[in-house]
Amino acid sequence: MTDSPGPLQRLVGSEAGADHVPAEVNTEKVSIARIYDFALGGKDNFAVDRAAAAAMTEVVPEAMLLAKANRHFLRQAVRYLVGEAGIRQIVDIGSGLPTAGNVHEIAQEVAPETRVVYVDNDPIVLAHGRALLASNDRTAFLKADLREPEAIFGHPDTERLIDQSEPFAVLLGGILMHLEDEEDPEGVAAGIRDRLPSGGFLLVSNTCDNGEPRAMELSQVFADSGMGTRCFRTWDEQIRYFDGLELVDPGLVPHNEWRVGPDMPEPNSPAHAMHIGGVGRKP
Ligand SMILES: C[S@@+](CC[C@H](N)C(=O)[O-])C[C@H]1O[C@@H](n2cnc3c(N)ncnc32)[C@H](O)[C@@H]1O
Repeated sequence: MTDSPGPLQRLVGSEAGADHVPAEVNTEKVSIARIYDFALGGKDNFAVDRAAAAAMTEVVPEAMLLAKANRHFLRQAVRYLVGEAGIRQIVDIGSGLPTAGNVHEIAQEVAPETRVVYVDNDPIVLAHGRALLASNDRTAFLKADLREPEAIFGHPDTERLIDQSEPFAVLLGGILMHLEDEEDPEGVAAGIRDRLPSGGFLLVSNTCDNGEPRAMELSQVFADSGMGTRCFRTWDEQIRYFDGLELVDPGLVPHNEWRVGPDMPEPNSPAHAMHIGGVGRKP
């Protein structure tokens, strides 16, 4: 791993100094946000997260590439939403730990007046998010759960920053895949679509069962890792998240096919088909 400590490691002390760890940071249990941080080359992760990542790369050596490609897609999509579609309000649910090229940075680079509400259910994301945003009055960070949308859309910070009667975008990057079938990801997506006014957008990206045996093996590693979920759904299942929306070109596709920028990592890896994303507009 890295030589110098990241913000989380500075916050909790060294891994050996476990008595400095705040109660809400469980360094013994994998965290989706921290594994993702590791995959993106970040420093806010622990041995347990890196072990889970190693198990993934054993099955699919390019597994970490999927996270990087997902992040590339998210950045490109935000550039599209703010730059081309004129969106000025974004709710990013399952935002992950702050990383290079955060949504508000990309959005406010294009249009400084853009407001962003970040949401994640991992308490450490909140701690870092709030530190990152301390000086930005057009952004907020909430600890809330996708499965309790009222806590997100009815939160005072959301109501302060997002006029929900005007077009806004909801980003669900790499999060519906962490809901089990019983948690009704289609119903969750439908509930969010219902909240969007005409001209609003929904972004969705997820791991995908593309028919390759390796995808199912990787899904099993997800389940065994302690992350708790292994929901690699097919394209046919995921397209339903966009019911009633107009899909922005080129549709729901692997990330290396969606308006790719020059920084797409290894654009020709076969593993790309195991992670797909798209953006839909409410007519
Ligand atoms: C794979 S990361 C994706 C980060 C970012 N959205 C992206 O696409 O680059 C998924 C994030 O979703 C969060 N998450 C998972 N389940 C959630 C839930 N039910 N409610 C809120 N956040 C959740 C995790 O803590 C993690 O930070």
